[in-house]
Amino acid sequence: MENRPTTHQSDNPGSEKLLLRALAGERLSRPPFWLMRQAGRYLPEYRQLRQQAGSFLELCYDPALATEVTLQPIRRFAMDAAILFADILLVPQAMGRSLTFREGEGPVLEPLRRRDEAARLRPEAIHDTLAPVYETLRRLRVELPPAVTLIGFAGAPWTVATYMVEGGSSRDFANVKRWAFEDPDGFSGVIDALVEATADYLAAQVTAGAEVVQLFDTWAGVLPERDFERWCVQPVRAIAERLRSVHPDVPIIGFPRGAGAGYAGYVAAAGVDAVGLDWTVPLAWARDVLQAQAAVQGNLDPRYLLVRGAAMEAEIERILAALGGGPFVFNLGHGIVPETPPEHVARLAELVRGFDAGDAARS
Ligand code: CP3
Repeated sequence: MENRPTTHQSDNPGSEKLLLRALAGERLSRPPFWLMRQAGRYLPEYRQLRQQAGSFLELCYDPALATEVTLQPIRRFAMDAAILFADILLVPQAMGRSLTFREGEGPVLEPLRRRDEAARLRPEAIHDTLAPVYETLRRLRVELPPAVTLIGFAGAPWTVATYMVEGGSSRDFANVKRWAFEDPDGFSGVIDALVEATADYLAAQVTAGAEVVQLFDTWAGVLPERDFERWCVQPVRAIAERLRSVHPDVPIIGFPRGAGAGYAGYVAAAGVDAVGLDWTVPLAWARDVLQAQAAVQGNLDPRYLLVRGAAMEAEIERILAALGGGPFVFNLGHGIVPETPPEHVARLAELVRGFDAGDAARS
């Protein structure tokens, strides 16, 4: 296999684990790939286990079932990485906030709107609740094939705070923005607790076997410039520093979905090794501006997986041709949607595995 190191030499060149090599800045003859939400409702075997477990949260907290669900897409499609099966909202639950998932409605939390409630958050108490997640990671490290990298994850503080303050999903983020804009010092009580809890949670995930971690900032794109810097970039940087004080070498992927031109400042300042791109990021700009500074991951619109045929294939080829020559991880621009036919994912896997950066450069 041809591999020409670009920015810096991988800590483990020749490692079987393509994801670790790409995140260390290597350009590979074909990129590693995995898909956000690769385990989930589009797979009949997931729906079956989910029914057995009773609820989504029971699935998350049962190490045997969560291990099985994590492995399901790997068996079918042989992705280069497995992502822990859990949810970003386990952290607020572990800090003492109530959480339920209502069928067809999504998450419901008790809204957190006051300084005194923020002061009662328990970032130091999370590990009892989250112990089953660590057990899932230990089992996965035993079960996974040697070429497959294990990814741990958490929500970034801003995104998790939106769910905590709004009490669930939101269209306009009215309450959380009002608090952040009107009383930033009070709101920072929520963000600081999340920084501490999230860094310690990720450190424990790495101790349990996660080899890479991803921070999901799904709602990074709803803030103005200065607030994006304060509530998205700085907290992720603080988490990266705290995590690296325990695990200096763990690669970190940041995913500030919807950040637009803000992606450039994020890559420069958030302290991440790689950045996840949503599907609106222009590929030439991503290659010239972002990929020069960090590995990039993305960014197929998951709805292209519903159409397959020439349209899907052309879009996959376009992304591979633009980004496949530098450090790159093929992924979606956001989570896979439940209506996705599994055969279309199989075709995507075939195309990415068949890509050859050398051929692409010569043609
Ligand atoms: O990617 C993976 O396969 C790993 C598992 C994973 C889940 N959620 C499982 C899940 C990961 C990494 C997440 C992250 C997550 N969770 C995010 C950030 C990424 C994103 O998608 O924006 C957010 C915002 C959440 C919060 C969350 N969890 C919501 C809003 C919902 C309800 C919406 C929905 O799709 O049902 C969930 C539920 C959830 N998380 C499911 C899964 C498989 C569906 C649960 C079910 O089986 O009904």
